[in-house]
Amino acid sequence: MRAVSFSEYGDPSVLTVVETGVPEPGPGQVRVAVRAAGVNPIDVKVRSGLMAQGKPLPAPRVPGQEAAGVVDAVGEGVTGTAVGDAVAGWTAGGGYAEYAVLSTFAAKPEALTWQEAAALPVAGEAAVRALRVLDPRRGETLLVNGASGSVGGIAVQLAVAVGITVIGTAGGANLDRVRALGALATPYGEGLAQRVRALAPRGVDAVLDAAGHGALPDAIALRGGTDRVVTLADPAAFDLGVPFLSKPEDQTAQTLETLMEAAADGRITPPASRAMGLGEAAQAHREWERKSSGKIVLVP
Ligand SMILES: NC(=O)c1ccc[n+]([C@@H]2O[C@H](COP(=O)([O-])OP(=O)(O)OC[C@H]3O[C@@H](n4cnc5c(N)ncnc54)[C@H](OP(=O)(O)O)[C@@H]3O)[C@@H](O)[C@H]2O)c1
Repeated sequence: MRAVSFSEYGDPSVLTVVETGVPEPGPGQVRVAVRAAGVNPIDVKVRSGLMAQGKPLPAPRVPGQEAAGVVDAVGEGVTGTAVGDAVAGWTAGGGYAEYAVLSTFAAKPEALTWQEAAALPVAGEAAVRALRVLDPRRGETLLVNGASGSVGGIAVQLAVAVGITVIGTAGGANLDRVRALGALATPYGEGLAQRVRALAPRGVDAVLDAAGHGALPDAIALRGGTDRVVTLADPAAFDLGVPFLSKPEDQTAQTLETLMEAAADGRITPPASRAMGLGEAAQAHREWERKSSGKIVLVP
């Protein structure tokens, strides 16, 4: 099969398309013929070596933590999912390929396109997890930094749906998109705390930083401390005493099922994505690094 692979950490040019063996599903896993594989910031960070703590890459690796496709083999002990089923989920061993093994998966509703389903697992789980930790209640005000992003956009919609007032930050070009999700919108960057105070004179009850980029001091100032401030992206958290939510603790089939049903019913809009080919994986990573907006999904 064709797969995108890298054998050393580095810039996007380390990503190449190779011919490699089709992976075998282990117990509880399925293999899918990939219809769409999500590209996430974490793929870019792993490929660059940012997460490697100076150690060399031990073996060639296929990037990609999420994919949607048609089941073509099931591992031992899998029940309720059969060859031919349409599913989406988290990969074991990479998603940027013609075939991928999924470790945790759920049925893809017919109402969702392959691209929409492939774009949900990583961002959706992070949004669900962060909201679970922050536990914002009806009538409270939540600030989401990075509300125009994949994670932030889902968090905004889930929170708005249960009666939470959400203030979302975005780049100037994406403020209307954030408003369309049901949030009050304000640009990120210098002066953020003042702009948020103007929108929420009684203060904010919780802050989700789903972007990084130095917003935590403003978040702490707005909260008057670190209580109910979390980040998914800013390593400054460790010095500032803010929880950095790094473990995908809500990576379950049930979480994914709930997200896909909500998307299929129109209760949430999945991250808007653009399709690119496997051979364009390096370009997809470059585009994220250059901060072009919007999620990319690779279609083999
Ligand atoms: N820890 C975890 O478990 C976990 C899980 C998932 C994601 N993440 C991390 O969460 C972050 C967001 O992921 P994603 O998939 O949502 O990425 P994404 O779709 O690329 O969204 C990035 C967001 O950051 C915003 N942004 C860009 N430059 C900014 C700046 N200078 N100041 C403030 N905001 C800025 C973008 O706004 P505009 O596009 O409007 O400029 C957008 O809202 C990534 O760093 C990712 O690695 C962590």
